[in-house]
Amino acid sequence: MKDTERYPITPDFDGWPVTVPPVAARPEDGALAVEWADGQVSRYHPFFLAENDPSPDTLHPLSRETTLSPLDLPEDLAAVSADIEPDGTIAVQWSHGRAASRFHPGWLRGNGWFGGEPESAAEVLWTAAEQPEPPTFDGPEALRDPALFLAWLTALRDYGVARLENLPSEDGLLIRIAERVGPVRESNFGRMYTLEIKDDPDSNAFTSAALMQHIDMPTRECPHGLQFLFCRGNTTSGGEGIYADAYRIAADLAAEEPRHFEALCDIRWTYNNRSKTSSYKATGPVIERSRTGRITGIRYNTWLRAPLVAPLAEQDRAYRSYRAFTARAQDAKCQMKFAYKPGDLLAFDNRRALHGRNGYDARGGTRFIEGLYSDRDDLHSAIRSLERSLSKGKTS
Ligand SMILES: [Fe+2]
Repeated sequence: MKDTERYPITPDFDGWPVTVPPVAARPEDGALAVEWADGQVSRYHPFFLAENDPSPDTLHPLSRETTLSPLDLPEDLAAVSADIEPDGTIAVQWSHGRAASRFHPGWLRGNGWFGGEPESAAEVLWTAAEQPEPPTFDGPEALRDPALFLAWLTALRDYGVARLENLPSEDGLLIRIAERVGPVRESNFGRMYTLEIKDDPDSNAFTSAALMQHIDMPTRECPHGLQFLFCRGNTTSGGEGIYADAYRIAADLAAEEPRHFEALCDIRWTYNNRSKTSSYKATGPVIERSRTGRITGIRYNTWLRAPLVAPLAEQDRAYRSYRAFTARAQDAKCQMKFAYKPGDLLAFDNRRALHGRNGYDARGGTRFIEGLYSDRDDLHSAIRSLERSLSKGKTS
């Protein structure tokens, strides 16, 4: 690997190791074509290059954001020649007398299109047999060791649920841990909530009743992406947490009951909260797909569904497919089931990992669980930032 300090800066603060060096660079119909040592070729539009030009005239050297408007560039701007400097930096000369640009080869390689679908996922889909317990890490050790903290976050991203254990029962600890991931995202339950039995509950969660599998906040335009539950004390019996991988359920439905899968992707249910002081309402399919068909989110909560105002045939299709989804969500084969021990902190992807619980008997015991939310992109940002800070010699 070459000394990255010698390369031009990039429009970000990421590291771009040059693992595959360029072997040829040439203009091609005004664009730049780069051939790499592995034989692959990538092509870059002149506007792509110009707006990412690391020159201080176009890229603010501190913010690393472009200062150009698209209208600052001639519409027929064209690369007229290109060279590879001895260290691999790629220089481009332009039409219209525009000053030459120089690009970091690792950045160009990392942002090149080589065919196929750039969207990738590291998700590990699971059933109860494959994942009987959440991936679990020692809490105090993870708080001391950034590499272990990163391992917890990575497990959360990949499995949709991950646990810290042996944490002390401290006021504010849940917020401090969550804020190491990202900002807390408040909700109609406040910045943080305590799962306790309320005399006048504004959710089934605030009773001792069993809870079916569900996501929280299907009533929001974008339901919260992450949820954290911190068990600070538990002397009750019952109340085990029950988690299911809804992405696995959806994938199995796609393979085994495709008509129901398609209905769950197509039909948009509305969800509304039942509160005397707020009235949230949002609409979306149970299974959300990307444009390439990847499953990207779940909106499933039986007791927050609003009436489905639709033709009878659509109601029939909606209810039958919802029932098929529920049959899998409530099948023990899909359910990871475990007790909340004092000191456990469960973090899970609220739009992927369905959660629920057995009912519990509060007589003669207490149960103290705090919860709060943040979002998926906070998790992804924290993972990327930690990876950046833990990797040596990758900054540019
Ligand atoms: Fe919940």
